[in-house]
Amino acid sequence: MKDHQISFQFISEPSDVNFGGKVHGGMVMKWIDQTAYACACNWAGSYCVTVYVGGIRFYRPIQIGQIVRVDAELIYTGRTSMHIAVDVSSKAVALSGFTKTTHCIIVFVAVDDSGKPVPVPAWVPQSEREKLMQQYAKRLMELRKDIEQEMAPFI
Ligand SMILES: CC(C)(COP(=O)(O)OP(=O)(O)OC[C@H]1O[C@@H](n2cnc3c(N)ncnc32)[C@H](O)[C@@H]1OP(=O)(O)O)[C@@H](O)C(=O)NCCC(=O)NCCS
Repeated sequence: MKDHQISFQFISEPSDVNFGGKVHGGMVMKWIDQTAYACACNWAGSYCVTVYVGGIRFYRPIQIGQIVRVDAELIYTGRTSMHIAVDVSSKAVALSGFTKTTHCIIVFVAVDDSGKPVPVPAWVPQSEREKLMQQYAKRLMELRKDIEQEMAPFI
């Protein structure tokens, strides 16, 4: 595992349940935030805060008792921000092969003790896949400008 990636595996517990008997969406969002947060802090080497969570999509439910895997990967850095792609997958204990259940992009900002943004080391993609992921992050940033403009009157 490289220093811009983190992967976390565990078994979903009965306390993670929603009213439908599956894993609660809020719990999945907590796992996403925690794993991406660790990925961002590792990269920045400092305390970070979440500034944006975007495009979260729950493709499939996760059953209680399944193995859950959360993969977080740094795909873009600005001056103080880090864009992390997160995939959540799950599988029954006895089966092989994970099924993707959730994907999202989450953005963190490195901050100092007073909460002021501070610069982060630049991420330089090497492989073709890493370059594609960086382009993906940049395109989403452009799309977000329109979304934020649309939302502005309601904030
Ligand atoms: C995150 C925070 C420190 C940024 O402060 P700010 O005064 O807006 O700082 P800046 O305008 O300099 O922006 C800092 C970075 O955030 C990025 N940013 C701001 N809004 C963003 C958004 N909607 N989406 C993605 N990135 C965003 C900026 O692009 C900038 O990144 P860059 O330096 O790489 O270009 C401030 O908004 C904050 O404290 N928010 C609350 C954080 C929080 O409580 N999170 C939940 C618990 S951890």
